[in-house]
Amino acid sequence: MDALRLLALTGSERDGSWNRRLRAVGIAAAQRLGASVAPFDLRALALPLYDGDLEKAQGVPDGARRLRDALLDSDAVLLVTPEYNGFPPPLVVNSFDWLSRLGAEGGLPSGLGATANRPVGLMSASPGQLGGLRSLNLTRQHLGATFAMLVVPQQFALARAHEAFDEAGALKDAKAQASADAVVAGLLRVAGALRPSAG
Ligand SMILES: Cc1cc2nc3c(=O)[nH]c(=O)nc-3n(C[C@H](O)[C@H](O)[C@H](O)COP(=O)(O)O)c2cc1C
Repeated sequence: MDALRLLALTGSERDGSWNRRLRAVGIAAAQRLGASVAPFDLRALALPLYDGDLEKAQGVPDGARRLRDALLDSDAVLLVTPEYNGFPPPLVVNSFDWLSRLGAEGGLPSGLGATANRPVGLMSASPGQLGGLRSLNLTRQHLGATFAMLVVPQQFALARAHEAFDEAGALKDAKAQASADAVVAGLLRVAGALRPSAG
């Protein structure tokens, strides 16, 4: 059977991002379980801040199509994102806002069609004590209720992220590693069950 295809997103692509480090942990976990993983850079889409006048004048930017296509090429999505003021960061919200403006075209589904019924697993990292947990719960609601994604029940918020990794980028705490593994395992389990050939 073909490997499950995992699209791995972050809500922060900055140099030294703790969330990028945690995504690498998630990617390694997925690869151990036999998935093929495509890390995807939302920042590289260079999507402008959503603006209705801009959309009217220029249409939906091609970056939104690249995100749609990446979603369509995946069986599951891993999103590892910081929270800003208890909320998902603009990189995530703005990318999905533009995606939602994309209609069906060229035989391809709309942006919302590309997210619908696609499994997603959530993780976050923060130097703070809650690890981004407040926004994880909002992101769960946002992607589930509005984008019709299947948000798996397992999630992981890595607190005190600046102390959590060793020099090689591994999580020092076995319990934290187990929590990250559980998100990825739960996600791939749902994705596997949803394969057309499953059941
Ligand atoms: C505008 C802004 C708001 C933030 N709000 C929160 C917050 O609500 N909770 C939290 O735990 N950390 C918050 N932080 C700190 C981030 O968790 C920290 O900058 C983290 O390193 C960002 O993730 P990254 O390392 O992946 O870029 C905030 C940071 C910024 C820049």
